[in-house]
Amino acid sequence: MKPFTPAGRPRSAQRWLYALPLLTITLSVAEAAGPVDEETLALVRDSAGSLSRSQIAALVSADETLAATRDEDSRKLRGEILVRLAESGTTAAVEYVRGVFESEVDRRHDAAYAISRFCLEHRRVPADWRYLVRSLMVVEGEQAQSVVRALNGFRERATKPVWIRQVLLLALTFDEPGREEAMDLLAQWSGRESVPEAENSDDQLAAWQNWFRETYPDEPDPSWPGQPEGSPWSYQQLLAEFEAIGENQGPTEAGRAVFEKAACAKCHRAGRVGTQVGPELTRVAERLQRKQILQAILFPSLHLNEEYPSATVLLLDGRVLVGTVTSAGPDAVSVGGLDGKRTTVQKSEIDQVQPNRLSGMPSGLLDDLSLDEIRDLFKFLLNPPKAESF
Ligand code: HEC
Repeated sequence: MKPFTPAGRPRSAQRWLYALPLLTITLSVAEAAGPVDEETLALVRDSAGSLSRSQIAALVSADETLAATRDEDSRKLRGEILVRLAESGTTAAVEYVRGVFESEVDRRHDAAYAISRFCLEHRRVPADWRYLVRSLMVVEGEQAQSVVRALNGFRERATKPVWIRQVLLLALTFDEPGREEAMDLLAQWSGRESVPEAENSDDQLAAWQNWFRETYPDEPDPSWPGQPEGSPWSYQQLLAEFEAIGENQGPTEAGRAVFEKAACAKCHRAGRVGTQVGPELTRVAERLQRKQILQAILFPSLHLNEEYPSATVLLLDGRVLVGTVTSAGPDAVSVGGLDGKRTTVQKSEIDQVQPNRLSGMPSGLLDDLSLDEIRDLFKFLLNPPKAESF
């Protein structure tokens, strides 16, 4: 892997992750509001404070009307509406925003940002702490800084290494003073008592990375991957392609063929296609944002799915199995190998299980595909064949 920029300058190494949030966080209301009337626009743009029931209804209705379009302006305006609803502090309005977080995975970052504003300006409701923590996987840029700031106001601590690592990864993308706030949160969550002094925040973050590596040697490294070496595709380019695909494109025969050609079907099931060594992908687009799906494909070891831990399993008879380990009844485990084959072993046959820090999923799977094939694959992942097709 060739890093984007020389070591020691991690901040600029995240350009590939950075471009999108800059587009989504701007707080100005979009000019071309299309179907939204002037009065409702003014409610978003020119007013502040609590909202009446009819005002909430108007904002919710505008939000729903805009759902029909996927263009950047509508997306931005819908983000503004969520912020306006949350900042009002009015219970029904904030409830709507929480509902969006739960039910619309593609808007989770906007909903979480709005909730962070509610927490910062009104009150801290323990249930919101959970939304904010869960959102750490999808928020970026200034939205992420606002979420971290709001989390600092809670006494609750997310102590699992996966969350601590995520705050650290985000901190690497922040400028001052976001970095300071992220490191405050790291100190609070990790319970680390003495944090060594350092000259500047680059060195401080490097010290946090080293601390993480020593404390959690089985976890993936707390750093961003570089551009995949030798790959014809960049993350940014493919993200733009993925984002440009409309919803409700039925599954295509072409997409299914790519799913098989690129070996995905060896390890994943989507609809009626494939075998299940890794996570089931039929509803992946309801669980993960497009950027998360793309990151999972291009950088398999960036975020590991905890339900499919990869491990090296040493058996008492000397055999060694490598792959994803899942339960197979009370006394046995199943190891799904990189070749897509499963082996079931009794727990009594196992000598040792060594967790792997790398995903069982290989990288570079898109390297030999054409852009058209990749688009077909994306369409297929957004909408895999349900039971009756093919
Ligand atoms: C050798 C097996 C293997 C192959 C081949 C493979 N994957 Fe995976 N994939 C996995 C495993 C194991 C995981 C879960 C562990 C992890 O998070 O890395 C995973 C995770 C994922 C995820 C994240 C899903 C989630 O719920 O966390 C996506 C999306 C994905 N794969 C898509 C693909 C696509 C698309 C292809 C084909 C281009 C592919 N995979 C090929 C094994 C594989």
